[in-house]
Amino acid sequence: MQPESMISLKSKWLRIVVVLVLPALWVQTSHSQTPGSPAFGEEAAKQADIYRSRGADVPKGYVIDRSLLSYTFILSPEFSRSLANLGPKHRWLDIGAGEGRAILDYSTSKYDVMLQGAERGGRKARAVGMSIEDRRTAQWHETAATLEANQIQYVHGRRLREYALEELGQFQVITDVLGGFSYTRSLSLFVEKTLGFLEVNGSFHTLLQDVRGENGANRPFYPDASFLTEITNTDGSEVKICAWLKSIACADVICELKADWSPPVEVYRVRKVCNDITVPGLELTHFEAGTPPERRFQLKEPSSPPGGRAGTTP
Ligand SMILES: C[S@@+](CC[C@H](N)C(=O)[O-])C[C@H]1O[C@@H](n2cnc3c(N)ncnc32)[C@H](O)[C@@H]1O
Repeated sequence: MQPESMISLKSKWLRIVVVLVLPALWVQTSHSQTPGSPAFGEEAAKQADIYRSRGADVPKGYVIDRSLLSYTFILSPEFSRSLANLGPKHRWLDIGAGEGRAILDYSTSKYDVMLQGAERGGRKARAVGMSIEDRRTAQWHETAATLEANQIQYVHGRRLREYALEELGQFQVITDVLGGFSYTRSLSLFVEKTLGFLEVNGSFHTLLQDVRGENGANRPFYPDASFLTEITNTDGSEVKICAWLKSIACADVICELKADWSPPVEVYRVRKVCNDITVPGLELTHFEAGTPPERRFQLKEPSSPPGGRAGTTP
């Protein structure tokens, strides 16, 4: 076997054995997972198998039951403040909700103890969980039955991009914890749709694992591997994820790299400041199934020169 492919395989397995706070599992790669190629079709099929997996077949790295406490630990501190400020007229959308455990924690008294103190007990926002596959548990159904109609909802069977504003409406808080933002093959459309579902002054809280941080100092976590999500400019130079998000019109973005996590994560808070959202378009150039998948995108139009808003890595 060629040394390079051995190295590549070795790095894949290294990814599997490292014990992670946010586990990741990759599958063996080839060099031609570009859209339209047979290898790409295989990767897309492997990814679909992950969504379909049940019981013991669910890959170890595919975590579907994070608690609300995990969300508050992972996401920006602003997330818990935003959630605590929501009242009964407000709405929270959790994209890629898995079992919807964070929503269950929020809608039951567990949330009061964890985040607000037991006294508050005021009426809460309505919450919508979204997942490609239906991962609702008996606990979800039992809890929903004790609450007012539509206090918690779970939508499934489609990807975020397939929903219209008219059917979902708008939200004051949107979260995505290793959901669609980490898994989508249409990243720019995903962000455009997400911000469309957000009310002005609302915030979108999300993260990516193992990406080049805003200050550019970190390297890929796994030896001989690339970052998990990468963007390049039309000339092939690197564009940091944070810089790309900051180039979105009508979005105020804060990025925070948690470099000591294994693997590191970059956490994003995107506040919608006006309605004319324009997201610089991205084209998928590489996709490798996993939890989350490995993705590369290229900007459709050149971004501003270095030092401009989209800023490339020197
Ligand atoms: C690894 S699970 C994460 C579950 C949950 N956030 C947690 O932390 O426990 C990934 C979730 O993202 C969902 N997902 C992936 N791509 C999506 C997309 N484009 N639109 C909506 N949901 C998506 C999956 O169906 C699944 O519910």
